[in-house]
This record gives sequence, C-alpha cells and structure tokens, in this order.
Amino acid sequence: MMKYFILFGPPGAGKGTQATAMVEAYNLRHISTGALLRQEISAGSELGLKAKALIDAGALVPDEIVEGMIESEFRTVKGVDGFLLDGFPRTIEQAKALDRMLAANGEEVTSVVSIMIPDSMIRERIHHRATIEGRADDAKDETISNRIATYHNQTEPLVEYYSKAGKYNEIDGTGTIDDVRKAIFDLMDRF
Ligand code: AP5
Ligand code: MG
Repeated sequence: MMKYFILFGPPGAGKGTQATAMVEAYNLRHISTGALLRQEISAGSELGLKAKALIDAGALVPDEIVEGMIESEFRTVKGVDGFLLDGFPRTIEQAKALDRMLAANGEEVTSVVSIMIPDSMIRERIHHRATIEGRADDAKDETISNRIATYHNQTEPLVEYYSKAGKYNEIDGTGTIDDVRKAIFDLMDRF
C-alpha cells in the first residue's frame, strides 16, 4: 500500500524545512503545491500568471488548479513508497477531492502530521525567511496578515475534518528544527 502523509500547518510552521528529511527517511515524494505554483510563476505560464495575483494577495488559488497538480503527480511519479503532501489540502473541498482520488484506487490518507505554532511566531519566521529566500508573498506585512487569516478561515477547519477521521496528529512546532524533526519521526514510525 502506498502511503499518503499530509504535512499540515500554518504559513511558516516549518513544513518545507522538515519535508526534506521526511522524504529521505521514508522514501516519499515531496509535493509542495506552493513550490509547484512558484515554478509556474517563474516559467511565466498562463497558470502562473493567474496564480501570482492570488498568491501575492495572500489568497488561495482555485481548488481545481491544485487538485489537477496533485493528480498529475500521483499519476506520473514512480519508485517511491508514498507521497508527502505539503500545503495540500488547504480547503475542505480539496480534502474531499483527495479522498475521492485515493478511494478510486482503494487507497486512503495514511496520516496528517500537523506542525503547530502561534500566529506571533508565524510572523517572526516569515520575516526571517524574507531576508533569505526573497519570496514575493513574504515581503509585505499585509500579505502575511492575509495568509494568516486565510489559514484560519479556510484551512483550519481541516483539523476537525481529519480529527473525525482519526487521522490528525499534532506536533509542537515551537521547538528547534531538530526537536520538531524527532517528534515527527516518532510519529511517522508508527505508520
Ligand atoms: P506555500 O508555499 O504552501 O506557503 P505556506 O503554506 O504559506 O507555507 P510556507 O511555505 O510559508 O511555510 P512552511 O511551513 O513551509 O515554513 P518553512 O519550512 O519555510 O503556499 C504559498 C501560496 O500558494 C499560498 O498562500 C496560496 O496562495 C498558494 N497555495 C499553495 N498551496 C495551495 C493549495 N493547496 N490551495 C490553494 N492555494 C495554494 O519555515 C519558515 C521559516 O522558519 C524558514 O526560514 C525556516 O528556516 C524557519 N524555521 C522552520 N522551522 C523552524 C524552527 N523549528 N525553529 C526556528 N526556525 C524555523
Ligand atoms: Mg513551504
């Protein structure tokens, strides 16, 4: 059975930071919908152009776009034991679409690994990253505030969705990068 881990958490929680070690240790393919969208923007594609305005505003891109990206990765990537979904799903609709995609092949979400930090730390982490990576959506306080609001309004309801399904596991994301990684590995070892 393929494994489908969801790496969940607010902006700046440390999803991208932890993903590299996770995919190496468990032979998973890392799929970050944010990174895929940023690639489309750099490539100057039509999709990228459409996505850029929304991302720079701190809003979500339409569900169908990211669902299509995920489906195409599932279809084409071979030779792994599973997938690590970073930043997807982000709405209840996306979660239901994922459930349908997997159920079509008799599969299901393995587990949700949620890295949790308070809003104040989100700002700190993103301000820090802005000095290193130069992501357009990290540059303005207004964008960061909108991303935080988008998270609370549209993404946080997934906590209840996956708790009800018995798949939600929360990790304290406020410790050091090493502390968080150890907690994640302890959790993933159970699956
Ligand atoms: P996305 O790229 O997914 O951004 P995000 O969710 O806002 O998350 P980040 O990448 O900002 O944070 P992260 O958790 O990866 O943190 P990181 O590890 O870098 O999405 C971008 C946009 O694309 C969205 O706003 C939306 O518009 C669109 N989009 C993407 N997916 C979508 C979807 N499914 N549906 C619709 N739209 C979608 O860490 C942050 C910083 O903190 C780094 O500098 C890091 O070094 C540092 N750090 C990490 N861990 C620690 C630690 N433990 N201690 C100290 N510092 C730490
Ligand atoms: Mg990230």
